[in-house]
Amino acid sequence: MGDVTIAGTGSFLPSFVLNNSDFEMMVDTSDEWIVTRTGIKERRICPKNMASSDMGVEAAKSALKDSEVSPENIDFIICATVSPDKFFPSTACLIQAKLGIKDIPAFDISAACSGFIFGLEIARNLIAGGGYKTGLVIASECMSRLTDYTDRSICVLLGDGAGAAVVKASETPGIMGSYISSDGSYGDILNAPAGGSARPASFDTVEKRLHFMKMEGAALFKIAIETMCEAINKLLKRFNMKKEDISLIIPHQANLRIINGVAKGLGLPPEKFYVNIEKYGNMSAACIPVALDEAAKKGLIKKGDIIATVAFGGGLTWGANLIKWTK
Ligand code: UT7
Repeated sequence: MGDVTIAGTGSFLPSFVLNNSDFEMMVDTSDEWIVTRTGIKERRICPKNMASSDMGVEAAKSALKDSEVSPENIDFIICATVSPDKFFPSTACLIQAKLGIKDIPAFDISAACSGFIFGLEIARNLIAGGGYKTGLVIASECMSRLTDYTDRSICVLLGDGAGAAVVKASETPGIMGSYISSDGSYGDILNAPAGGSARPASFDTVEKRLHFMKMEGAALFKIAIETMCEAINKLLKRFNMKKEDISLIIPHQANLRIINGVAKGLGLPPEKFYVNIEKYGNMSAACIPVALDEAAKKGLIKKGDIIATVAFGGGLTWGANLIKWTK
């Protein structure tokens, strides 16, 4: 099995900002509630003339530039999303066409907020197996299209954006390994009830707003902290490493209190966790690649550093990647 590394990262955030005071005019909420309960101050909203594939293309272009890899050298595209442009073709295929890349596999994965972590692990295995040299892992989420802006328990949390990484074969280990897991028995506590084959869109489902995302937030809160701690601890054990060996953790940005709970659970200072939730809210799978790109571009990750990603989301799904930065 060969080594695999991250050669470059990129991201795209729509320019339109929806801030907490905007919600005070839409639902019964307050800036104070949103900030103290979640840490979110504002989030970006995708314009009407763009969809997940368009944001994914921009993030991919930025990652290609950062890695100095040209589109014709990309051997596969994986896109993590729960807000695809359409049921099919896949958002990855739409991105492939928009990037003008021919004759490579392109496919979506559905692992909700853990999607980028799952995508990196799939890419690592495709490349380590020797069949492919270079791939694009993209996470693009237009969560505003799944958001019920009359439901205060969820609308204040979500935002839109996309992130990407170019992943390629390497002489030394980069993506060292991952821990990924799922438990489908909790599927109902975070889901979009209608619009799929179980309950196709109808006047009734639209009237009942069942095509929007529903979440049992309080039930998820505790599971999120437990599973994210478990993912990091299992990875560290597998690599016989200590938590102190990790220089920066890039967590999913669902709630600042969850991130601080994971820090406490792992016995690490909160400063070890990269946080940008105040600017973008919860962008599902896009949170981690956007945060990774920001942290790298800010110079917070240096060559040789060991970093970890960690996420939890609908499915339920959860996981972590352990990465040695080689750039
Ligand atoms: O992306 C991965 C999956 N998602 C997550 O991991 C999210 C996990 N859950 C959470 O982050 C938190 O549970 C939430 C942020 C969703 C909610 O925070 P909470 O502290 O668990 O609040 P709660 O649901 O227990 O609600 C407390 C109160 C309720 O009022 P009562 O019943 O105490 O009178 C809610 O109706 O806050 C009320 N509430 C709000 N009030 C003002 C709920 N949403 C709002 C709101 N503004 N936007």
